[in-house]
Amino acid sequence: MIYVAVLGYGTVGSGVVEVIERNRDSINKRVGDEVEVRYVLDLREFPGNPIQDVLVHDFDIIVNDPEVSVVVETMGGLKPAFDFTKRALEAGKSVCTSNKELVAEHGLELMHVAEMHNANYLFEASCGGGIPIIRALNSSLTADEIDEVSGILNGTTNYILTKMARDGSDFDTALKEAQQNGYAERNPEADIEGRDACRKIAILSSIAYGRDVRYQKVYTEGISKITAEDMKYANAMGCSIKLLGQSRIVNGGIYAMVCPTLINVDNPLYSVQGVFNAIFVHGNVLGDAMFYGSGAGSLPTASAVVADVVDCAKHRGDNVMNQWSDEEISLIDIDEVRGRFFVRVAGSLAGELNNVKEVFGDVEPVSIPGTAGEFGFITKEMSEREYKEKAAKLPDIITMIRARV
Ligand code: HSE
Repeated sequence: MIYVAVLGYGTVGSGVVEVIERNRDSINKRVGDEVEVRYVLDLREFPGNPIQDVLVHDFDIIVNDPEVSVVVETMGGLKPAFDFTKRALEAGKSVCTSNKELVAEHGLELMHVAEMHNANYLFEASCGGGIPIIRALNSSLTADEIDEVSGILNGTTNYILTKMARDGSDFDTALKEAQQNGYAERNPEADIEGRDACRKIAILSSIAYGRDVRYQKVYTEGISKITAEDMKYANAMGCSIKLLGQSRIVNGGIYAMVCPTLINVDNPLYSVQGVFNAIFVHGNVLGDAMFYGSGAGSLPTASAVVADVVDCAKHRGDNVMNQWSDEEISLIDIDEVRGRFFVRVAGSLAGELNNVKEVFGDVEPVSIPGTAGEFGFITKEMSEREYKEKAAKLPDIITMIRARV
């Protein structure tokens, strides 16, 4: 018997209990043993819910039960999740989590603790919800040298940007609608300012490149400054604006960043709409691969957590997460990163285009109905430093969005 304890009976924790119940037979068959939820830890009571029979309020009961071999941590946040996870691992129990904050902050340390105690610390659900991307990077793409991981890693922001692109809504209206439909939290700051995607790209990059990417060093911009007008320009150019988490190896160095990015229809991430996530991976022998699916939600996320439970049950005493080493990657300075830039500038074509061309060279101006007195253009490829130097010579720039076109 594989006894499981679930820490936190919220959206994901309740999904984990449901998945283990609903797919009991197939899960047991895959494990070759019976998987049973012995405890659920939560501060609350759930009167009338069968979970009440296994509900406990004291973590010590779980950590001191030698029969519990797998702990699912779906509490979120750092406290008390870090302490509980460490104690569970030190007691030789494997831990499976969806907690991206904890993995980005303390994942390395917790993996070491797991290794020392012949246990596993697995976190498939921390990136891309139900999309099996971590297992793919850790166990499947092991013949490749990965040189790019890029993706739409946050469902909330992709929902908002999709709404803005489809309905012409402004950011605040789209955010309100996302909140009303349960796709954005009441405090959506970590999502809309890109911090959630930042943690996810740091985790994915660490596994893809086999070294540690500290999320605090990843250049991050969110989507709160994207306007309905920006989206109209994107539509007029046959493009879309997406919040991308990107990391790439360029000339032997690695850069990582999160920012709103203009992409065109040729980009495989262009058609990823609504709350869906997708991760694009490039390997030197594989070429391109895309992983697409539900990036959030109770059951999709629980699907990834329970898959980790199955992995832990099948690999007892065997450490399976081994692609993320202690050596920290020194990321390339953002100023050295090369790309193209979509720029909106105030002024009439007749009055301002010559100034723009003097600074940025020959560019193709774009105008959209309803925004007289301004136009847009996409620069040729240059470094961020070069862009900043040139932009400083044009005082009438309204906005800049990075472009991968
Ligand atoms: N807030 C996250 C998102 C949840 O919108 O993608 C899944 O990590």
